[in-house]
Amino acid sequence: MAQLREHWGSRLGLILAMAGNAVGLGNFLRFPTQAAENGGGAFMIPYMIAMLIIAIPLMWTEWAIGRYGGSKGHGTTPAIFRLLWNNPISKYVGALGLFVPFVVLCYYIYIESWTLGYSFFSIAGLLPHPDPSLPQSEYLKPFKEFLSAYTAPSITAYLFFLLTVAFNAYILYRGIRGGIEKFAKLAMPTLFILALILMVRVILIETPHGTAVQGLDFLWHPDFSQLSNPKVWLAAAGQVFFTLSLGFGAIITYASYIRKDDDIVASGLSAASLNELAEVILGGSIAIPAAVAFFGVMNAQAVAESGAFNLAFVTLPALFSHLTGGDFIGFIWFFLLFFAGATSSVAITMPVVAFLEDEFGFSRKVAVTVTIIFTFLVAQIPIFMPKALDEMDFWAGTFFVVLFALLEVIIFFWLFGSSKAWEEINKGALFKVPKVYFYILKYVTPLALFVILATWTVSQLPQKLASTDPQVWVARFVMIFIISVQFFMVYLADRKRRMRDEG
Ligand code: PHE
Repeated sequence: MAQLREHWGSRLGLILAMAGNAVGLGNFLRFPTQAAENGGGAFMIPYMIAMLIIAIPLMWTEWAIGRYGGSKGHGTTPAIFRLLWNNPISKYVGALGLFVPFVVLCYYIYIESWTLGYSFFSIAGLLPHPDPSLPQSEYLKPFKEFLSAYTAPSITAYLFFLLTVAFNAYILYRGIRGGIEKFAKLAMPTLFILALILMVRVILIETPHGTAVQGLDFLWHPDFSQLSNPKVWLAAAGQVFFTLSLGFGAIITYASYIRKDDDIVASGLSAASLNELAEVILGGSIAIPAAVAFFGVMNAQAVAESGAFNLAFVTLPALFSHLTGGDFIGFIWFFLLFFAGATSSVAITMPVVAFLEDEFGFSRKVAVTVTIIFTFLVAQIPIFMPKALDEMDFWAGTFFVVLFALLEVIIFFWLFGSSKAWEEINKGALFKVPKVYFYILKYVTPLALFVILATWTVSQLPQKLASTDPQVWVARFVMIFIISVQFFMVYLADRKRRMRDEG
């Protein structure tokens, strides 16, 4: 079976696909708003620390776990955890590696479809064009109304959703090398070029209210007093997780298509560096500076706090429509987000696809079809119930990722064994990981993850659990249903394996 697994075509292809996995809406929207709200330039201190002691070590762990599983014919954690830790419950712990990406996918792909819709509206000149002499609040109004009418949801929003799902399915049908890798090789360079063009254009913006350079100053001006606030540290840790796609199972599945002696230390670092370039340099130089140029420094904080969606779909299109060639600039912005989103959504679809292929022997086509049909069905919930979307995002996208990451390091470094784990990471490496990381991975990373999880449990869980909104209940019910189905499938897969081993 192991020989039949697909492999990435080239190292560059692998790095670009992994970078595509990581570079997403989070880089251009989530990062700048988080930084602006949490101490500006000072945010980079906890961000860097979290990067060094949590994100980078976890990234190597996930690449190593994935490559190891792939060499034995498995690309998802229910099976890989059993190989690492021979205990009947390991496979159920591994089911989290299917639950998290699937639930996130069901709302991520819907938001991704807005970016496609807005790309189309921009280039077709269909977004509002209010009179530039209107006062700011009046000027923004048509854009707000446009967004709420679109996301009501409208028929157009639904059509773009279908188109986005079909596009994702098409890439997945074509496989790892012919689909995902090929798309990443086109999308990633395009994305970087688009972002660069946009960044240069944005930096030049000057309005009577302010300039983009003042925006850079606002975003990066360090407020060190914020560093004593634990919230800032949690936000930084949450952001490095989200941006590098850690704890989602998506990296593990991608890594399972790496040949067993190929380097992961340098490739992993390269992919992560590309992500950081896109995040800190490009992501930090577009949305917030543009918003400040438009609204002025006085209102910048309010803009950052109005949230990432408002920034992306209201503030920026409003600003662009002021500029000459604004429709085209708007198109660049939304299409950039669409490529960033699409290279990530295919990555979170892959775990379930790979699970069906590896454990049930489904063909690629059947596995993709089944996964896409279920995604389409479950996605109806976030589409029609915004509060359900938030609930799904909290559990799958925030809480379980950290829990899953903690379990992952424990299983790899403590149950599989630290010396074997260390050897796995460094196998085939162009350069070895510095030895200090052995201790970081064994002690510091799990401890840091535990502290984050405990703080969240105490500070946020009671409040989250107290919600009795019907939409929230629907989301909870559906999530319980999904995890139950996945447990059952994991059980079936394991029974199938045992029968084969015995027979
Ligand atoms: N890293 C992506 C982003 O920054 C989000 C994501 C997480 C995508 C996990 C895929 C898997 O937007």
